[in-house]
Amino acid sequence: MTKERILLKAAEDVRRELESDSSGHDWWHIVRVTRIARYIARQEQADAFVCELAALLHDIADEKLNPTAEAGMAKVRERLAEYEVDESDAAHVMEIIGTMSYKGGHNPPVRTKEAQVVQDADRIDALGAIGIARTFAYAGWKGSVIYDPMQPYRETMTHEEYRKGSSPAINHFYEKLLKLSGLMNTETGKRMAVARHKYMEAFLEQFYSEWDGLGMEPL
Ligand code: ADP
Ligand code: NI
Repeated sequence: MTKERILLKAAEDVRRELESDSSGHDWWHIVRVTRIARYIARQEQADAFVCELAALLHDIADEKLNPTAEAGMAKVRERLAEYEVDESDAAHVMEIIGTMSYKGGHNPPVRTKEAQVVQDADRIDALGAIGIARTFAYAGWKGSVIYDPMQPYRETMTHEEYRKGSSPAINHFYEKLLKLSGLMNTETGKRMAVARHKYMEAFLEQFYSEWDGLGMEPL
């Protein structure tokens, strides 16, 4: 298959698979991340085919959607074989998908420029207005409340505790989202993260001011 055909086929398959997902891994997340990855790849002179293919396939391996992380990676490997992606590109895509996830910020930095691009693209889509929307969609899917002043975010909470529990959606901003703009790999990614980061800060400020009832007469 030509590279163009491989990308089309991968998009078609992933679309079918994630179309009805409501955990924040929906098909439109994939479309956005792939588009952002294509843009950053062009700016950073990275291999656009590898970046796009990894972006398209990155969430079919997610631990949340598979019995284990290994089962998820096996699925990606099968797909790449089915599309007859050449060996070095396939190995590169596997490496990108296997190393790009956040894991509480504990994963080591990714190795290649293409991995940096795809990781940045996925992180950009976790920020800004879209990031806010995805956070509350995910919290709803998980059954978490939007905010609980009695359960403030604890810096000492481990990632595993955090993942298992159903802590309030607002806590996720401190656990991850507000840290991402400082963790971008590429200059293009850093630039794109700035406005989205500011927007989330403004959102939180407005959220707390409404929560505290500022400007209202006491009952
Ligand atoms: P990604 O597709 O960026 O790898 P994740 O798999 O970590 O993202 O999660 C999907 C979406 O749900 C993201 O927008 C993320 O910020 C959000 N999310 C992840 N964990 C939580 C959580 N505990 N509470 C609220 N939102 C979350
Ligand atoms: Ni993603």
